[in-house]
Amino acid sequence: MAYDQDLSFNYFGPTKIVFGIDSSKDVEIEMSSLGGTKAVVVTDQGIIQAGLIDHIVKILGSKCVGVFSDIPQDTGVEVVDEGAAFAKKNGADIVVSVGGGSVIDTAKGMCILLTEGGNLRDFNGVQLLSRPQTAHLVIPTTAGTGSEVTNAAVIMDKELGQKRLVVENFNVPRLAILDPKMTVKLPQLLTVGTGMDAMTHAVESLHALPHEPITDALGIHALRLLYQYLPVCVEDGTDLLARGQVQIAATMAGWAFGLAGVGNVHALAHSIGAVAHVPHGLANGILLADCMEFNLESCPDAYALVAESFGIREKGMDDLDAAKAAIAAMRAFTKKIGHPQRLSELKVKEDDIVKAAELSLGDGAIINNPRLVLEASEMLEIYKKVL
Ligand SMILES: [Fe+2]
Repeated sequence: MAYDQDLSFNYFGPTKIVFGIDSSKDVEIEMSSLGGTKAVVVTDQGIIQAGLIDHIVKILGSKCVGVFSDIPQDTGVEVVDEGAAFAKKNGADIVVSVGGGSVIDTAKGMCILLTEGGNLRDFNGVQLLSRPQTAHLVIPTTAGTGSEVTNAAVIMDKELGQKRLVVENFNVPRLAILDPKMTVKLPQLLTVGTGMDAMTHAVESLHALPHEPITDALGIHALRLLYQYLPVCVEDGTDLLARGQVQIAATMAGWAFGLAGVGNVHALAHSIGAVAHVPHGLANGILLADCMEFNLESCPDAYALVAESFGIREKGMDDLDAAKAAIAAMRAFTKKIGHPQRLSELKVKEDDIVKAAELSLGDGAIINNPRLVLEASEMLEIYKKVL
């Protein structure tokens, strides 16, 4: 593998993981273990309607000082500011987020503002903070973003017309409760999309320039679990074993890409998400195989590991053959799980991809792509293939 010459790296993964069926019932014990006494629960309307909040609020009892649930599909800087003001007004000393990526990222932003004050626009950047932020306990209801263990939050700024990336080691969630029962009500298309977000994190963690042995190990096992169990979840959303294995995979992939970085798939997914509101996971799933094709000559060894993880590397295959087999398998996999194949299925237009191609060059994810991207036209070519 093409590691940096001196092979040096830092691994930093401070989130405690509590995994198990019904583990969400331990929320009060786990919150207290972090020193939390007054929790604001952060969630969205979909989660409330799915009946996933009532038992959490009931278990927290008087330690729940409020529920903030006004969060859209793609959260924004104003949402974070409002959430933080709500938490502050209610005297919260810990944030408990229950939801998918948008909810978790909102809560991450709130943790910063609760400690540091100000508005989220004051904290756009990388590693600006110098002290631990308000404790954050996450209960994911999707299995994909990995946000429960990463140092990053992606938050839309309508004024900029772009998603802001807030990256802070002092703001990594302190604890994640992975309860497979919290994901069984996830609709099929969300299971598919969020699952392919995790798949993309795992693949990109292997090809990202700063990858290292620990992130490789996490990415490889995440790929194994996703390849085996994501189709089972799609077939039968109530299969708790499969749901749990995909949750674990998503968290492992989150750790992997949180440390190693991602690449052009995420740069393109963020950009088309900002321009045409394509859900993040579905954008990744549609773009992944063609982005791998684009990168193929730069990292056949990384994609050969994908083939090995899928169990499809045959004897005698060199890295390039195995990498090509991995790309073909990825295309077949997305069809098998009923994933949309083209951006036009999600109402994306020709104009949108032109704008998004320009935007993608300024996306932080592209820095770690294994093949250097110089021109927006190169990214536009990939979009055109999947339009
Ligand atoms: Fe992602």
